[in-house]
Amino acid sequence: MGSLLDVVPVMPVVVVEDVAHAVPLARALVAGGLPAIELTLRTPIALDAIRAIAAEVPDILVGAGTVLTPAHAEAARDAGATFLVSPGATPTLLAAMAGTGLPFLPGTATVSEVMAVLEAGHTEMKFFPAEAAGGAPWLKSIASPVPDARFCPTGGITAVSAASYLALPNVGCVGGSWLTPADVVRRGDWAEIERLAREAAGLRAGSAA
Ligand code: 3PG
Repeated sequence: MGSLLDVVPVMPVVVVEDVAHAVPLARALVAGGLPAIELTLRTPIALDAIRAIAAEVPDILVGAGTVLTPAHAEAARDAGATFLVSPGATPTLLAAMAGTGLPFLPGTATVSEVMAVLEAGHTEMKFFPAEAAGGAPWLKSIASPVPDARFCPTGGITAVSAASYLALPNVGCVGGSWLTPADVVRRGDWAEIERLAREAAGLRAGSAA
């Protein structure tokens, strides 16, 4: 795979409550033009959901999100995750994620955290929680002093605000949960998920990135 940040303009950040939803949800995202999913390790069935998608939807890159510990990183890899995302990064977690051999996006929210991740040898990272931590103006401000870092901002981003992030040169993609609203997933409205994905997939064309 090339850069994780260049696969999709919007990375769907998903909380799956019912493992039966995993495969149709992943298929709807692919059908809408988004062949990647960050499946968060926030529910007891998250690893089973990753396993099911990895086995049954070969067209999608299935990543594990909310990776907080080395054990999470290893369990996600063993379940078939093809990339890892964490909301923050400690030296121990960075080493564990690197140790899986998978591509990963460690979370950062301050310039010092960005510098620490760069120092560990990683130029691609998540900026989280994006809106609360300074949003697009923060990313714009650090582009010149810290030119080597590239970001996937996530947290509080919407279909409307996504374009302003995607227009920044140090942003590869944005992450968000707005593509998979809990009520839409719960009622199995995969056509609506596909529509939301298609709308988001079109954002790159509209950005200046
Ligand atoms: C994440 O884990 O990246 C966030 O929970 C996603 O943030 P959002 O729900 O505000 O899009």
